[in-house]
Amino acid sequence: MIHLVDLLCLSLLCLTGKTLGDKNGPAVINVDRGAEVVLPCSLSTKEDIELKLFVWRKAPQKDEGQKEVFLYDKGIDNRGQSEEFKGRVSHFQDKLKHGDASITIRNTTLSDSGEYSCYFPRLQPRQTFYIQLVVEPSKVIKVEEDSDVVLPCSLSTKEDVTSGLFDWRKDGGLKEVFLYDRGFHYNIGLVGQSEEFKGRVSHFQDELKHGNASIIIRNTKISDSGVYSCDFPELQKPQTFYFKLVVGSAPETNERSLMMT
Ligand SMILES: *[C@@H]1O[C@H](CO)[C@@H](O)[C@H](O)[C@H]1NC(C)=O
Repeated sequence: MIHLVDLLCLSLLCLTGKTLGDKNGPAVINVDRGAEVVLPCSLSTKEDIELKLFVWRKAPQKDEGQKEVFLYDKGIDNRGQSEEFKGRVSHFQDKLKHGDASITIRNTTLSDSGEYSCYFPRLQPRQTFYIQLVVEPSKVIKVEEDSDVVLPCSLSTKEDVTSGLFDWRKDGGLKEVFLYDRGFHYNIGLVGQSEEFKGRVSHFQDELKHGNASIIIRNTKISDSGVYSCDFPELQKPQTFYFKLVVGSAPETNERSLMMT
């Protein structure tokens, strides 16, 4: 059961992410080190949890035990919070009334990677949601204006996505860069692509069978700079990849600015 459209924040940008219940294993969220991430957790009943109890924990790893990330019991109770999460985690007070117990973790470190659970011990039936967080060294792709750039996105499982769905977006989902849906995409049949990307983006059809959903953007513009996400919402374990594209101006300008520093 997939709950669509939960928020995921990276830096100051909010990105559309996805989560799911416990049946298919945890949803995977990939985020760059240092960025801010929202771990989504919403009751499908949308019941008010302002006066309820929920606790976020991080599963034991190697030589470390389970950690308490965030506890809410009719209010924030951070007495048992693990040291490493102090001052970095917050909830969304005004979303509690809609059954949304999502949290934000700021300044993510590589060691924040792991399995998180969001647990409602007093609900009948009890409910737990799982998220696999993967914090990665920041991925930045730099390219010059007016060139072509391949934005890489490949599933480690290499599973065939030819008859699947993947969605490339920019700036927190505000802009639709490229959508592929079972053979249809923005260059044939689908509508909704942001104006600025029309006619400039293609995928690699032959690569899809290896789980490679990379795209190429031609004639890059300075305004193409931003955070891109490549999302596979329909996989057994939905996955989203993020990275930054930095389109720099022509080399002369770069040299001049280098000389000035
Ligand atoms: C995916 O396909 C692109 C375009 O052919 C290629 O540049 C890239 O290396 C491929 N990635 C992987 C992991 O095979």
